Amino acid sequence: NKLDMELEAIEKGGYDHFMLKEINEQPRSIADCMRGRLDARSGRLILGGLQDYMNKFQNADRIIITACGTSWHAGLVAEYLFEEFARVPVEVEYASEFRYRNPVISSKDFVIAISQSGETADTLAAIELAKEKGATIFGVCNVVGSSIARATHAGSYTHAGPEIGVASTKAFTAQISVLSMMALMLGYQRGTLSESKYMTLLSELEAIPAKVEKALKLNKKVEEIAAQYKDARNFLYLGRGYNFPVALEGALKLKEISYIHAEGYPAAEMKHGPIALIDEEMPVVFIATKDSSYDKVVSNIQEVKARKGIIIAVVTEGDETVKKMADHVIEIPPAHEAFVPLISVVPLQQLSYHIAVMRGCNVDQPRNLAKSVTVE
Ligand code: AGP
Repeated sequence: NKLDMELEAIEKGGYDHFMLKEINEQPRSIADCMRGRLDARSGRLILGGLQDYMNKFQNADRIIITACGTSWHAGLVAEYLFEEFARVPVEVEYASEFRYRNPVISSKDFVIAISQSGETADTLAAIELAKEKGATIFGVCNVVGSSIARATHAGSYTHAGPEIGVASTKAFTAQISVLSMMALMLGYQRGTLSESKYMTLLSELEAIPAKVEKALKLNKKVEEIAAQYKDARNFLYLGRGYNFPVALEGALKLKEISYIHAEGYPAAEMKHGPIALIDEEMPVVFIATKDSSYDKVVSNIQEVKARKGIIIAVVTEGDETVKKMADHVIEIPPAHEAFVPLISVVPLQQLSYHIAVMRGCNVDQPRNLAKSVTVE
């Protein structure tokens, strides 16, 4: 009815869709997530939920991360973070597979369950299983008081605020923010991060919201690119290192709201199969920021170019090399490579949003999908 519609319009805060509102909220939601927890100047980093479990976390033989969908992608980013900064072995598991395959878990394992809604049935079941085997379970949830938040031993909320759009956006970046803070704490405590490196990383992380704000300004450019490729039947998303999970996430966003088939791949894996798909109709989205895998990604771009693929590249501001090769470049602010996913995912969220709108899709409530999947 009319009142409901007016209420919804107010909730959307002037945006056409919740998804767009939530994409644009990210500078604030990331800052909210870090507020009171991280202060780079004093070197302060506190996660209330972790205090009582820091011992278990620090002495864990292994970290197991379990989640579904976008939250699982955040888990993949965390795998790189924990391994790089804290030198702990990490496994990232789809909750639905983990719960059914009699996994090897012990009381020396530290399990992190990631969930926006805190109600995902598979994730909840994975937690119960790991708990029975004596592991410590830590939740990274957005919804306060949710089932997963209650089922875990401890946890840290992402504080992203309510996420209404079925396609997860601000919850993803808030999850990565919490996991980044956890990785820095762990690295510092375990002595794998020097004091000075730790202090630098704290400032780098604190600088992210302002960079996300800047990245959001690319919206017009991304919209123009969307208009050109909205009728494509397939998309390929490629990235390496920290940007590999971002490629997966970009592809998931596109398929769930625009119904265009999209695949995300580690860029180097392309030559083992997906390269066969490339022709002059195939848009290939590269996340090719200046990081330790940059030169390798540039070679992968060349391989696509040689097969006449259409190249859309997310690059670091000022990049000249990729600009010469790509059909379109989207330039994002530079950041420490470990925190780049928080920025590089933003134009991919915008791309899927615009394509879905242009195709007349129901962006906030895509067909066949529920915001939280409470059935297995
Ligand atoms: C994300 O855009 C999806 N709608 C979906 O993959 C989601 O991330 C997944 O169902 C997990 O949900 P959760 O974070 O609430 O557990």
